[in-house]
Amino acid sequence: MRKIFSLILVFLLAFPITACGQNRAGETGTAGGIETIPATDTIEAVQETGTAPDDTGSEPVAEEETIAKAEFDFERRTVMLNSGYEMPVNGLGTYSLHGDECINAVKSALLNGVRLIDTASAYGNEEEIGQAVRKAINEGIIQREDIFVATKIYPGSEMENPVQSIQACLDRLDIGYVDLMLLHHPDPNDVEAYKAMEQFVEEGKIRSIGLPDWYVEELTEFLPQVDTVPAVVQNEIHPYYQESDVIPFIQDLGIVVQGWYPLGGRGHTGDLLGDSVITEIAVAHGVSSAQVILRWNLQKGVVVIPGSSNPDHIRKNTEVYHFSLTEDEMARIGALDRGEKHDWY
Ligand SMILES: NC(=O)c1ccc[n+]([C@@H]2O[C@H](COP(=O)([O-])OP(=O)(O)OC[C@H]3O[C@@H](n4cnc5c(N)ncnc54)[C@H](OP(=O)(O)O)[C@@H]3O)[C@@H](O)[C@H]2O)c1
Repeated sequence: MRKIFSLILVFLLAFPITACGQNRAGETGTAGGIETIPATDTIEAVQETGTAPDDTGSEPVAEEETIAKAEFDFERRTVMLNSGYEMPVNGLGTYSLHGDECINAVKSALLNGVRLIDTASAYGNEEEIGQAVRKAINEGIIQREDIFVATKIYPGSEMENPVQSIQACLDRLDIGYVDLMLLHHPDPNDVEAYKAMEQFVEEGKIRSIGLPDWYVEELTEFLPQVDTVPAVVQNEIHPYYQESDVIPFIQDLGIVVQGWYPLGGRGHTGDLLGDSVITEIAVAHGVSSAQVILRWNLQKGVVVIPGSSNPDHIRKNTEVYHFSLTEDEMARIGALDRGEKHDWY
């Protein structure tokens, strides 16, 4: 059976669907969908080979253990998740945005073609985001199926009562279903909270599930305890904190990596955007430092969700597909890694 699941998964990843978030790959108008590789099998496959199936120097991986690494589709600006849903690869982060500022930022993003919005219960702005999305739908700017909304439940009391907390996110957003629900950080109740998310997926109220701030050790311990491989892991990633060992580990599990604080995070952007290596590369391409950093992430297979309330920044953050960084430029940015984490989690 696992062989069949793997083959189906490989097939689906090779032939992206044509409407973002609209259809689950493999759906034929019936109840059919793909079945995911069990999480236990996935971590075992990576542990057995110790490396990615396409890494050089490794023994060929047995067919039934093959895990397809998700590739970005730069034409469609999307990636196919292991859940069978397509996710945009550049979005809008909404941490610290509230009220009209948040609503206007989402509106500006939608008008500029952004189709991925990242929020969280802890950000206290799910209602505003739901309001902005519903308004855009009512005004004919988007259809619900065009947009991919991600939210998170927080450790502590929310994860102690995951069913109520997840339902509360759905109620606050009020957009029918949530495209991606994540557990905000590891927590003593994270396995139970994850199982609650799996249940909501069964019920069709959530489409994909994920884990932010899970690294190699956390994933190795966590995955054997759950049935579904997360579709997304969201971690801090920027040129000063590159996670060069963690990113391939996650990607080799068939999980898409999303980077938070892509520009270093509020309060830290000055150093990064003013870095002489980044600015030199920016001048060479006639783009901004932010665009160089976002493009660097995308070329590493990392989804970006820069936060902004500035319409000009929001627009420019989408204009990262008309140029590409050379191998040498990627390596120069790679050499900037300082292991400098800008937040504790
Ligand atoms: N899972 C987690 O634990 C976690 C943790 C932190 C964050 N996140 C998510 O990741 C998202 C991104 O993080 P973040 O917003 O804190 O940090 P960020 O994206 O690294 O940086 C945001 C800062 O960059 C500025 N900026 C954005 N675009 C710019 C551009 N083109 N040129 C110059 N400056 C620009 C913004 O200012 P303006 O508003 O003036 O543009 C803002 O001050 C968050 O919004 C949140 O959704 C997740």
